[in-house]
Amino acid sequence: MGTINYQERIPNNVDIGNDRRLQRALEAWQPNYIDWWMEMGPEGFQQDDVYLRTAVSVDKDGWAHFGHVKMPDYRWGIFLTPSDPNRAIHFGDHMGEKAWQKVPGEYRNILRRIIVTQGDTEPASVEQQRLLGQTCPSLYDLRNLFQVNVEEGRHLWAMVYLLHRYFGRDGREEAEALLERRSGDIDSPRILGAFNEPCEHWLSFFCFTTFTDRDGKYQLRALAESGFDPLARTCNFMLTEEAHHMFVGHTGVGRVLKKTAERMKEGDPRTLGAIPIDMVQKYINLWYSLSLDLFGGEDSSNAATFFGASLKGRDQEGKAGKYDEHTGLGQTYDLALFDKDGNHTIEKLPLRRAMNEVLRDAYVEDCEKVIRSWNRILEKEGCEMRVKLPHRRFHRHQGVYSGLCFSPEGEFMRREQYEARKREWLPTPEDSAYVKSLMTKAITAPGKFADWIAPPPRGINGQPIEFDYVDFAH
Ligand SMILES: [Fe+2]
Ligand SMILES: [Fe+2]
Repeated sequence: MGTINYQERIPNNVDIGNDRRLQRALEAWQPNYIDWWMEMGPEGFQQDDVYLRTAVSVDKDGWAHFGHVKMPDYRWGIFLTPSDPNRAIHFGDHMGEKAWQKVPGEYRNILRRIIVTQGDTEPASVEQQRLLGQTCPSLYDLRNLFQVNVEEGRHLWAMVYLLHRYFGRDGREEAEALLERRSGDIDSPRILGAFNEPCEHWLSFFCFTTFTDRDGKYQLRALAESGFDPLARTCNFMLTEEAHHMFVGHTGVGRVLKKTAERMKEGDPRTLGAIPIDMVQKYINLWYSLSLDLFGGEDSSNAATFFGASLKGRDQEGKAGKYDEHTGLGQTYDLALFDKDGNHTIEKLPLRRAMNEVLRDAYVEDCEKVIRSWNRILEKEGCEMRVKLPHRRFHRHQGVYSGLCFSPEGEFMRREQYEARKREWLPTPEDSAYVKSLMTKAITAPGKFADWIAPPPRGINGQPIEFDYVDFAH
């Protein structure tokens, strides 16, 4: 059941060959996708052979095949985890009903919006990362970047499949529009803020894959609970791919910190070509706060609608023992509010309206674990300094804290005070210039690493670190 059919032009495990209309629609979209990939995908590496994994099955074990492939020849396709014919909806107003195999008419528009918003992030990140290959710190890292990129491309396929299969003409139009918007474009930007921010260097890339891909993890987990079964099954498989993206970020920042801590034993990391820890901290502050915004407003009628409609659950809504009940009714969430003078009150928000914040709580907790593991690296290297997460109120552009100023500790600040100290907390143009000055060319000799990052403890898929992860065409 988990096996993927690679005989068809579009690899899939959902029998699209049986639905001629769908197959034709997707085959018409495919060349436009490839055009987008050639224009907006990794620049300068499309003819090279990259050691990539490709999904061969959606079963828990052994779903991936590894081998060298040119990125434009990657077998993008449509993979859903197997369906459970007895699955019932387990939260919201439709709790107890059989999971939906078709889109309920009353929810058609909001469901389409949820899918389009998720789908839009996938190509956006490829666009943000398209120039990074040219300054890669090693072949190992270059390969990891490309693995992330092709899988984000596949995630786009996953959402486009849902649009084509379940939303008719509107869905087809949305699928086209997903290839037309561009990250950072003034006239036609991507939908969400963090996906329009430039990702100019590898420190940003590692912070992005740590924090922004992790937002993706929590959005996918919430949608994996959905009463709309095809969406739940799609997100379940995407989550298995997403884990690698967060691994790339988590270990990437960890290796940067390790290298810096090693250098600090010899002297000033800055004169030794490493990235000072306070600079890393600023990028953590930046990408973490941008990613917090992606969860949406703390008090949200949309969030209440999505939960009530049984379309988007909480993190692990279905896990035994995790929540006492699943309607979200008759309960409140304590939300700290501030007025423009910094006066502080607690509002008791109806729980359904607070579902974005509830999901953000799970995310924050997960990020805390990442920070602890980074600090263990510093500790092990005998370094006294530590990194930390800024408070969730810091540097926000969405929700009840946007428009107000807070320190990284979460204390209310007057705007002038905040502006005067901002340079201590967020990357300055000089920081960005310094980081970029370390990354002016690609390091492509097998087993060699740039001076600002430690090698990983092991290679990919049991291969040695000095393996030929990317075979250049010339
Ligand atoms: Fe993704
Ligand atoms: Fe991702």
